[in-house]
Amino acid sequence: MKTQDRTRSARHIAVTAGAVAAAIGSALVIFASCSDLSGSGGGRPDVLDPALVAQGKTIFRHDTYADETFWTDTLRMTEPIGTAVSPKTALAVGLKVDMDTLPASLVADLQAGRVNLDDPATTVALLKLGAVVGVVGQVDANNKLTRVGITCALCHSTVDDAFAPGIGHRLDGWPNRTLNVGAIIALSPALTDAQKAVYNSWGPGMYDPRFNFDGKSMPAVIPPAFGLRHVAKELYTGDDTVSYWNLYVGVTQMHGHGTFVDPRIGVSVHNGPENLTTAKLAALRAYQFSIEKPTATAFDAAAAARGKVVFEGVGTCSTCHVGAQLTDVNAGKLHAASEVGQDPAYAQRSVTKLYRTTPLRGLHHPPQLAGPYFHDGSAKTLSDVVDHYVTLRGLNLTAQQKADLVEYLKSL
Ligand code: HEC
Ligand code: HEC
Repeated sequence: MKTQDRTRSARHIAVTAGAVAAAIGSALVIFASCSDLSGSGGGRPDVLDPALVAQGKTIFRHDTYADETFWTDTLRMTEPIGTAVSPKTALAVGLKVDMDTLPASLVADLQAGRVNLDDPATTVALLKLGAVVGVVGQVDANNKLTRVGITCALCHSTVDDAFAPGIGHRLDGWPNRTLNVGAIIALSPALTDAQKAVYNSWGPGMYDPRFNFDGKSMPAVIPPAFGLRHVAKELYTGDDTVSYWNLYVGVTQMHGHGTFVDPRIGVSVHNGPENLTTAKLAALRAYQFSIEKPTATAFDAAAAARGKVVFEGVGTCSTCHVGAQLTDVNAGKLHAASEVGQDPAYAQRSVTKLYRTTPLRGLHHPPQLAGPYFHDGSAKTLSDVVDHYVTLRGLNLTAQQKADLVEYLKSL
């Protein structure tokens, strides 16, 4: 992807002064339209317009913003996906199948074992049905995959495994922690071996949204897109609002058509000719705000109640994890890496260069959600999280208190 981006920046540099002025003008418009903080004190809309939410749901699930020009024309992903990726392989790299799109006859055939899951043609058939979560394929009359693009749902939706592992009803907003985005991108015949090696090194549930700009490989854990309605700033680094990031990802990572300009991080990307992103931001945001965190079920209630006392008391967690969202970002606070025992490198690439206290919600819903935790996934389990803080903050907790704290975290 780096090569393509360099080509694009070269093209970008070669624009006229008039176009630069126009780009700056549109950047101002972008920032204005990105403000999620209408209303006072970081508050979010109490009432969401259902029509806008419904529109946003369709965008979140199915809109590629014409990013096929990248995934098909540049990365040539139709070649491996159309000819060499069987459903078994697709499921193995974490792609999910939405069972609600499957006709009853196909469900019956699947149940009876009459579908060849080793045949790449079956993958193309699933794409034709729109059954692969977050992947939009166009298939011609000869059942050849001609175009492929991706949507937000690729990384931020999974399924409930109702039919089989990887096949079920959609769970929007849940991060797909088994999705190996890097391994999928590495199938592209347009990449060099060195580039493929980097993508292959990321592993499941991880993605680096800045690699194509700085060439540094520092993948982050794909976070949930639920439970964000009352969180003032998004990203591990609290850079800006939901819409700011939606536009960033839509244009600079999915490579949808539109313009994203932010001089604070030196990013200026224009994928043209048309702008298919900006006008969709309001609906997309409304949908994300409508997705509540899942209700916790898998925890011991008595232990969790004791753990809450530890969290707010000797654990000193509520020094930072405060308020209804359990984050002090709503009070305008961010933290230096050293303060929270994290590697500063990831934050260094962001607008703030600091870390946001992660709003704690939906931390434990196995099998879909069971870690890893922290931006880089350095804590594999909630127990590792607690141990991290015990060491960092010199906490004096008994084994019982630590276990109770873990149960409390599972209850959020
Ligand atoms: C290829 C995987 C991928 C795709 C596709 C993707 N994202 Fe993300 N998303 C990420 C990663 C990784 C982060 C974490 C980045 C960070 O915080 O530095 C993230 C962060 C976010 C956040 C911030 C969450 C928080 O806790 O602050 C939101 C909201 C979000 N994405 C929404 C979207 C939307 C909407 C789309 C479609 C326009 C989208 N994402 C497409 C991987 C993806
Ligand atoms: C000094 C502020 C501060 C204190 C004190 C603090 N945290 Fe955090 N917490 C953070 C920040 C900042 C992050 C994000 C770090 C990252 O992602 O690298 C975080 C992340 C987390 C996460 C990871 C969430 C996820 O989805 O990745 C958990 C769980 C957590 N903290 C629990 C706790 C517990 C339990 C305590 C008390 C023992 C605690 N925190 C104390 C600031 C704090």
